[in-house]
Amino acid sequence: MTANLTAETLAAYKRWAPLYPSTAHNPLMRAEQQAMADLWPPVSGRRALDLAGGSGRYSRLLAADKAAQVVALDFCVPMLRQVSGAARVCGNMMQLPFADRVFDVVISGLALGHATNVNAWMAEVARVLNVGGVFLYSDFHPDAARAGLTRSFKDRKNDYCTVPHRCYELDSQREAAAAANLTIEVVHEVRVGMELREPFPKSEEFYRRWHGLAIALVVRARK
Ligand SMILES: C[S@@+](CC[C@H](N)C(=O)[O-])C[C@H]1O[C@@H](n2cnc3c(N)ncnc32)[C@H](O)[C@@H]1O
Repeated sequence: MTANLTAETLAAYKRWAPLYPSTAHNPLMRAEQQAMADLWPPVSGRRALDLAGGSGRYSRLLAADKAAQVVALDFCVPMLRQVSGAARVCGNMMQLPFADRVFDVVISGLALGHATNVNAWMAEVARVLNVGGVFLYSDFHPDAARAGLTRSFKDRKNDYCTVPHRCYELDSQREAAAAANLTIEVVHEVRVGMELREPFPKSEEFYRRWHGLAIALVVRARK
């Protein structure tokens, strides 16, 4: 079951990769990226990991911020091929191929919902993070998933595809962080009609229906 879901996720991202530039390329990503920027840690001179970095959206920002070293890890090679300005590592975020405490900053955009286990994901991040290091991550909000919203895209043939997603409630994220000796400093919820309010085709109906719904979550934690 877990192996099937991971394979399905990888297949979906291989399909999405050609249409996944290394910038925030839809209204949700722009709102999420702004919330991440508001909580962005000091990066200059630090060793940074872009975890499940995709095509390198956050790797670019880490490099622009003069991180001493940027490593982008993802399990999808067509995503990684688009990354520039970072060392690229093809690997599984559930079993990181790095020694203990080698990063001062770990950034992870919109990837927690692909972790097979939130406790193991948090423990793996805590293991590679130096003492005092910062972990900043975002994800599709569990409330949005519960409301029936999906993570989906249209591929090159204009076919509609949905990416599998696991729902980790905020309480289970807090418990996993505590068990991994990470202290959560800030939790920010990105809400429809508030931070997310950019118009897009048929958006009036979307904003009317989902006004106030938490659609993305941004969390900053420290080891
Ligand atoms: C929604 S994309 C986000 C990409 C990038 N972090 C961003 O914010 O633009 C999720 C990424 O997680 C990667 N991913 C999913 N499961 C993974 C795993 N088990 N190990 C490594 N990467 C994974 C996918 O390949 C994809 O690039």
